[in-house]
Amino acid sequence: MRQSEVITVIGAGYVGLTAAVLFASVGHKVHLIDVNESRIKHLKRGKSFFYEQGIEPLIKRSIKTNNFLPTMTYKDAISESDFVFSCVGTPDNPDGSSNLSYVFAAAEEALKYMRPGTIYIQKSTVPVGTGRHIEKLFSSSKNKIDYVSNPEFLGEGTAISDSLWPDRIVAGAANHLAAKKVVLLHKGISKTAPRIARLAGLEPKKNKTEYYITNLNSAELIKVTANAFLALKISFANSIAKLADRAGADIKEVMGGVGSDRRIGAAFLNAGRGYGGGCFPKDVSGLISSAAEHGVDLHIMTAASDVNSSMPGYIAAKAKEALGGLSNKEVAVLGLAFKAGTSDARRSPGVKLANILSREGAKVTAYDPKANSEAREDLLKRVILAESAEAAIKDKDAVFIATDWPEFKDLDLVNTKRLMTGNIIVDCMNTLDKKRVEACNLTYLGVGC
Ligand code: NAD
Ligand code: UGA
Repeated sequence: MRQSEVITVIGAGYVGLTAAVLFASVGHKVHLIDVNESRIKHLKRGKSFFYEQGIEPLIKRSIKTNNFLPTMTYKDAISESDFVFSCVGTPDNPDGSSNLSYVFAAAEEALKYMRPGTIYIQKSTVPVGTGRHIEKLFSSSKNKIDYVSNPEFLGEGTAISDSLWPDRIVAGAANHLAAKKVVLLHKGISKTAPRIARLAGLEPKKNKTEYYITNLNSAELIKVTANAFLALKISFANSIAKLADRAGADIKEVMGGVGSDRRIGAAFLNAGRGYGGGCFPKDVSGLISSAAEHGVDLHIMTAASDVNSSMPGYIAAKAKEALGGLSNKEVAVLGLAFKAGTSDARRSPGVKLANILSREGAKVTAYDPKANSEAREDLLKRVILAESAEAAIKDKDAVFIATDWPEFKDLDLVNTKRLMTGNIIVDCMNTLDKKRVEACNLTYLGVGC
């Protein structure tokens, strides 16, 4: 492995941009291709088009050192690259299956310019078997191109730190040596992690990364299975939360006790308004669909998906009962990003909740510290956006906390009570301390507590 390789990353989204700036920060020469002109223009000016902690200082620095080259043109970038990473979107089709049109379009375009010996690496999340089809496409070329599945496990909001200190790197390929080279590229990031973290303004972390070299199909299936299992844990917790509500138990105590069993683990057992985002919903439906193609009925995941879809409505119904109806009630929804730490509002449970409340006749004002503008197009027109939490809360009968942003977790509850007309706080992510809420003469409604 040379100190400085030439790398092309295709797709300047959360995954592609993160990978590109990290490889550039290590010292490689990195081209980043996207078909979206506005994204490329932003990047050339040293700016990210989404909020992600630590990413902008790295973009700015790599643009200055001239080894991070955003472009809309494949030819010059690909033809001089040793490694080509595909990080394009894999959204769902209307029937839930994975839409692989961007994956194949990128591979076909790159194939025109790849030199013999180039390694083409798939970071996008794809159904098991996709790589085999791309290998077939590549075998039509006179040049020998190796294909490696190298799925990405970063989470939004922690993208840089997850990539500097990953739990594992998976590389699956027919050619073991090609997979090994991809692992080495990632080891280069780990070696430089403390320096890159300093540049990004992030706290250093300690963890041990596991490296898995597998066959191609296993690598693809590891990724979708990991996401499905995390989604399953959340829906399991939400199912038990509904029982806890009926039985008078407290889901936080229940899952605290359950999760302390090391065989189970406490992560992803937080009950609430369910999972959203650009990944879990479409990855779960994609896995169900890909299993069905292989003749396997993955009804465990269909159940997880159904439970998830039910949660915003379940919370709205709980609030409706406490408020004695929703019609003409003034409510605030705080949190439109699908999780804290990001401006991403794709498939956001907060947005879904705001729309349900509005359809039920409530007058809804919503606010998010970073996602107001991204959420706008998915919100019903009559949902009003506020410029601050205080402005959203003012004169409301009920306040819904739909995303666990620190500013909502640490909400000044005395001031909240003073600003509100009513007194109901709906903690849609079980993020507040119930006793602290009740001490301010507010009524607390959680999910399973
Ligand atoms: P995204 O939608 O943010 O970005 C994808 C980018 O690819 C877009 O900018 C789009 O314009 C570009 N693109 C599409 N077709 C192209 C083409 N032919 N040539 C060049 N550019 C093209 O997507 P994302 O969130 O970064 O996700 C990318 C993939 O990684 C998906 O498969 C996703 O499931 C997976 N993934 C995402 C995350 C995450 O946290 N967002 C984490 C792990 C894995
Ligand atoms: C998730 C995975 O965590 C990443 O490992 C993976 O790489 C990524 O999907 C992907 O493949 O795209 P992300 O979607 O950024 O990352 O967010 P998560 O932190 O997993 O949260 C997903 C959703 O579940 C959020 O809406 C979150 O609020 C919700 N959640 C999470 C819960 O409701 N309860 C929990 O206990 C945990």
